[in-house]
Formats: sequence, structure tokens, C-alpha cells
Amino acid sequence: MCGIVGYIGSKEAYPIVLNGLRRLEYRGYDSAGIALFDGAQLHLCKTKGKVNALAEKFAAQGVPQAQIGIGHTRWATHGVPNDVNSHPHTSNSGALILVHNGIIENYAALKTVLQQRGYVFHSDTDTEVLVNLIEEVKKTNNVKLGKAVQLALKEVEGAYAIAVFDQSKPNEIVVAKLGSPLAIGVGTDEFFIASDATPFIEFTNQAIYLEDHEMAVLRLGREARVRDLKKDARLDSAIQELSLNVEQIEKGGYEHFMLKEIYEQPRAILDTFRGRLLPEEGIIKLSGLENHMSRFLNAERILIVACGTSWHAGLVAEYIFEEWARIPVEVEYASEFRYRNPIINKNDVVIAISQSGETADTLAAIKLAKSHGALVYGVCNVAGSSIARETDAGSYTHAGPEIGVASTKAFTTQITILTLIALKLAKEKGSISQSVYQQHLYELQQIPQLIEEALASDATIKKIASEMVMAQHALYLGRGYNFPVALEGALKLKEISYIHAEGYPAAEMKHGPIALIDAQMPVVVVAVNSNHYDKVVSNIEEIKARKGRIIAIVTAGDSVVKGLADHVIEVPKTTEASSPLVTTIPLQLLSYHIAVMLGRNVDQPRNLAKSVTVE
Ligand code: F6R
Repeated sequence: MCGIVGYIGSKEAYPIVLNGLRRLEYRGYDSAGIALFDGAQLHLCKTKGKVNALAEKFAAQGVPQAQIGIGHTRWATHGVPNDVNSHPHTSNSGALILVHNGIIENYAALKTVLQQRGYVFHSDTDTEVLVNLIEEVKKTNNVKLGKAVQLALKEVEGAYAIAVFDQSKPNEIVVAKLGSPLAIGVGTDEFFIASDATPFIEFTNQAIYLEDHEMAVLRLGREARVRDLKKDARLDSAIQELSLNVEQIEKGGYEHFMLKEIYEQPRAILDTFRGRLLPEEGIIKLSGLENHMSRFLNAERILIVACGTSWHAGLVAEYIFEEWARIPVEVEYASEFRYRNPIINKNDVVIAISQSGETADTLAAIKLAKSHGALVYGVCNVAGSSIARETDAGSYTHAGPEIGVASTKAFTTQITILTLIALKLAKEKGSISQSVYQQHLYELQQIPQLIEEALASDATIKKIASEMVMAQHALYLGRGYNFPVALEGALKLKEISYIHAEGYPAAEMKHGPIALIDAQMPVVVVAVNSNHYDKVVSNIEEIKARKGRIIAIVTAGDSVVKGLADHVIEVPKTTEASSPLVTTIPLQLLSYHIAVMLGRNVDQPRNLAKSVTVE
């Protein structure tokens, strides 16, 4: 959570830092702040609220010309979101100025020591403690900023990505990382700093991703000096070439990123397939998996760890892996797994699913699994993210940047890659026949087109949304492969419309939730042609008998459910295992339209952030 941006070079720092914060706003939007140094004076502007509020406030106070600046967009952890608690924070002397993403866990103890030495604190943040700690270390050891950061961080417990500069020496910015991401954009005699590469992509495609326990001194006129803080040794800075482009991170004519990302799903899934799904040759190519095939084939079980929407993708995968590859699968919330002393064996394979690749609980679950000798395989979207680096091997989803806080294309591409993994394992194990395998390859190839067809129901869905918009609560039901889809549909509605919703396996309804059903309760039922179709029809009858309003997702051409439901949304026919990839589309659109009709901030719903880097 929280996004940090910085710039040092010969360009105007303000627009770079401000636009960078806009791109990182998905990481938190409780407050924002920018500090610029114009060669003579520091100009600091901070405000509760979003980056737009900051831009207005800074414009009113007067934006200076400056070639060095740092900025921050905050998801509050320590201290309420207000102007004072917003970053950047200055040290007591006013010389040092710092932005921080993460949590300093021992900040209370450090604060007491600093207070005893005369330091005064104006905010409730752990970050103000950190900047003063660096100042104190710098002063007592009489060292330069880089050395002071290095020494101060030895005393710090927790997670951080920081950028700090000294007004009295404004030719360098010092950055460091542990647990939170930090990318450095390397230009010609200029450096960009950001929590991910999006803020600087139009300026340079050369980036250094700092690893944990690394810091860098970015001084004008020389190359970035990267240091391993554990070994206290200089490192060669590993510059990577980025493949991201500006169009990928702009709205492209859509009203919201979420809508753009919903519509991008056919293209995103094609990208997931690219070079991997080769039906004509009868193969699936996944190099990460191929390198560890025997570990997978000999696995006693597969454990899937993830959070939120990614956990729902894991649930879908459980059905697919067990049905096709006949390997036992357990799906765990990473946050529970990491703290419940789980039994993990050397023969287990752990699959960690994460769009951002930065989710703190998932990262901790991975470290735990690795410490027990399990092979950990990552399914991530963000290349070079912490989880992508921490796992033993993995496959990227290649969905492209997902900016809307509510996950859409990440979910469907995660299911897609997990389907490819399951199918490849099934083929290797011989748990499905060659002809069934080959048929699945061809059917998977149709998915992008089938999603296009599902998207074509948008106008119908919008009409249904205009009725559902008055609801206080909603139930989502599905069975088998579509039970996780019901959970995901309910989560989408909750998080962007703030309407309370629950997802249930349809058959569980009569064990409790049926008591909720009355004429005011919309019940969204995934009732596509499947092994459970008749059972789901019976569940629909039960809801109808209690006057619930039924919105059903049905296979095109269905007539039975059409006769029972208040509304139906048709999706094209697929195999049962691939049905979540199409049934989830109308549920995304339904939540989207309801949230827009309610005037919600669809891309940045309240209290949320895109990457949850705190536990
Ligand atoms: C919901 C949503 C979250 C994330 C969860 C895990 O729309 O986006 O539930 O799925 O925070 O995030 P990642 O996948 O980045 O680990």
C-alpha cells in the first residue's frame, strides 16, 4: 500500500512526480503529498484526500520550478489520514525529507529513544520516526546521507521502500527497500523513483528493481550505486529493459479503468495463451512448469495460497486440477496459512496466486512454504514483483497493468494460466486421454471469442442493474466450478457498490441463507448447462417459492430457467471447466453498472488499495 515517486535530473520535477502519483493512486488514496526543492528552499504540500486535491492545493500555494522532488500517495496504517500525517515527512532540523511505503514495526521504541534525545514529533506516523532516526545517525556518526540511511536501517524492523534527500546536498536521492517494491528509472543524467515502473515509462525503459535489503544512492553525474545492506557490499546495478508502454496504462476512451479492463479480457487471455497454447502442435508450453515437472508429477498434494479475488481463482483451479490431473488440492487464505502452523511437506507443491505480486500475506506464506522445502510456483501478473522473485518458478498471466482496484482481467487470466498448468499435468500424468486433451486445447482457443460474446449482453445487464441498484443486500449462488464465481460476483458487488452481498454454493442455501429470501432480495444464480444444472434449477424453484427476485446467468438457448427467473443473462456454451471464464463476465458488468448508478468511485472504492503490502 502507498505509492512513492521521486525525480532528480534537469527536467521539471513537479509534473513528473504529480503524474506519477496519479498512476500510483491505485496503491492508496487517503492522502497525498509532494516536496520540491528549488535550489534555495523546500516547498512542501500535503493534503488529506486524492492526488487531484493535492494538485489544486499546490497550484493555489504556487508551484516552484525544481529539478528534485519526491511524492507520496497514502493508504493509512499509522495515524488517521489528515494533512499532518501525510508524507513527505521532514526531520527536526528540516534538512532531510522522506517518503515511505511500508510499516516500521518498532517505531514506538525508536520514537521513545529519539524523544529522550530531544526530538519532537508532529505526526502519529512511523515515517516521521524514520526520517529523524536517519538524521540522528547522520549527526552522531558525522556521515553522508547514504551511510546514515544504511546505519539507520539496521535499527529498523518492518517493511519499507523509502526515498530521502538532504536539502543541503540536493544532488542525490537515497532509496532503500525491504518488503515493499521500489523501481528506479535510469535516464540520461536523471533518475526516476517509483513503487512500480508506470510513473516513468514515457521517459525511460531502463529500470533497476531493488531487491530486499538493498539501497541505492542516485547522484547526478554518475551511475546508480546499489548496495547490499546485509553483506555491506557494492553491487553491479542490474538494469532491465521494460516492455510496458503508455497506452497500456491509460483509459483508452473508457469511462473507468475497470470497464476498460473488463473489455480487455479477450485480448488479455490471448496474451496469456501467446506462445503457450499451441493446439495445432498439440502442446502447451510453460517453461517454468517444464523445469519442475517431476516435482509437480510426484507432488503428494498441491497447496494454493492467495487472497481475495486471487483466492477465488485458486478455488476454480482446485476443481480443475483435481478433475483433470487427479492431484489433491487444498486452497488456503494466505493470511490464515501463514499463522496456523500448517503441515507442509517437501513433496508438496505450493502455488501462490497474486495479481500485484506484492500482497504481504501471500509473500509470507511463500516464505513459510519455502522454509519447509516445498516447491513454490508463482502465478503473478506484475513482472519483477516481489512474489515473482521470491517463488522458485512460475508463470506470468500477462494480463497487462490492472489499474482498477476491483480485479477483473487478473481473475480470468489467473484461471486461464491455471487451466493450462492443470491440462499439461494431466497430459503428462496420463490422467486424461490424448483425444480429450486435444479437444480441450481447441476449446480453450475459443475462449477469447466466447468472452466477446458474453460482453455483448452489456445493454441487458445495464437494465438489470437499474433494478438491482435499490437493493440493500444480494445473494450470489453457484455450484461446482461456478461456486467460486458466485463468491467473486458477490465480492465485486460489495467492494465497488458497497451493497452487502454473499456468495454461496447453491445447495448450501437451504442450510441457512434461505431465511434471508423475500421479495426484496435479489438472488443472482449461475445456472449454466453443467452436471449440476437440474439441481440448480431446483434451487431456483426454492427461491421463487419464497418470492426472491432471480437474476440467472444461463447458457444461450436455455428455456427452462428463462421460464422461472425474473431476468436472464445469456452466456455462450463452454466446457464446464471453462465456464467460470464466461460466467464471471456478466457479474463484473453488473457490479460495474450498479456502482456507476450509485455514483461510487468505481476505480478507487473507499478504504481499499490495489496492492495490500501490509498484513
Ligand atoms: C478484489 C481484489 C482483491 C485482491 C487481493 C489480492 O477485487 O482485487 O481481493 O484480489 O487483495 O491481491 P493480489 O492478487 O494482488 O495478491
